[in-house]
Amino acid sequence: MENTKRIVPDLGVGMGLRVPHYAHILEHNPEMAFFEAISENFLVDGGKPLYHLDRISEKYPLILHGVSLNIGGADELNEDYLKRLKELVRRVKPAWISDHFCWCGVGGAHLHDLLPLPFTEEVVSLVAERAHRIQDYLEVPFALENTSSYLDYRHNTMTEWQFVSEVVERAQVGLMFDVNNVYVSAYNHGFDAFDFVRSVPHERIFQIHMAGHTNRGTHIIDTHGGAPIDPVLDLYRTTVELSGAVSTLLEWDDEIPGYDTVASEVVRISQIRDDALRRRAGKSESQRMATAKALSLIPERAGVTLDGHGWVQGGPRESAGADHGVSA
Ligand SMILES: [Fe+2]
Repeated sequence: MENTKRIVPDLGVGMGLRVPHYAHILEHNPEMAFFEAISENFLVDGGKPLYHLDRISEKYPLILHGVSLNIGGADELNEDYLKRLKELVRRVKPAWISDHFCWCGVGGAHLHDLLPLPFTEEVVSLVAERAHRIQDYLEVPFALENTSSYLDYRHNTMTEWQFVSEVVERAQVGLMFDVNNVYVSAYNHGFDAFDFVRSVPHERIFQIHMAGHTNRGTHIIDTHGGAPIDPVLDLYRTTVELSGAVSTLLEWDDEIPGYDTVASEVVRISQIRDDALRRRAGKSESQRMATAKALSLIPERAGVTLDGHGWVQGGPRESAGADHGVSA
């Protein structure tokens, strides 16, 4: 599959699908833009998990998110896992699917954690080749997520944002951009989170994750045990201003409260997204007007007029004005 840029739809702001909420969702059909299910919970032959998944996917857009692909591991990719994942993709028909930039096992043993990768050229090549191959095999747009981490490697030859950018560009896959993970890793490793946000290829962001975490003072643990804190919401605002309308999902995995509590946080994130998109549109408009004004002052352009939308018509300026989003 040739996947050049962001080819997935904007679904709005959704919620991670979690077991304690199944009954509420199926009974009350609450308004929700989309849900994201953890793929591994549904790689089964039948029974309750698939029953619930089918009922929910009949009513809501549903995205699949995996945690055990082990894309950066030393072992070969698990063909049986990929075969079962493809069957699930065919059943659910998600608009895209994702997993993580990590390794999570070796020698056939699964460690049940998302462990950080060394940020080296060798690992870029390995992960990019595999990501491209997986996307082709699954026949659905595929994205990889930046993880939170608590250690890094002396072997690193590039920053994390250089690493993830290089992989998604080379593999022609999407970036699942977890804004909370950026904050957690920035705190733990002492880099500027905004450098990460500004430096990734925004047109390749398929989806954004938001979540809460636990701050232990010396370090942050990525617990997903609460609502996103204000500094993470600030990072999110900047991400949306740079990226445009990208589907966003709230993950809540520890001490999961009732559906309505999580849904109210989804509404809060949605309001922030709307504000950021308005700011992006305002910047874009003022940029267009400034360009048009500058061009009208150039003597050799004096005969050219602006149309009713403020766009300058004709010649090279058509291409100059044709794609004026906020410059990233
Ligand atoms: Fe995430």
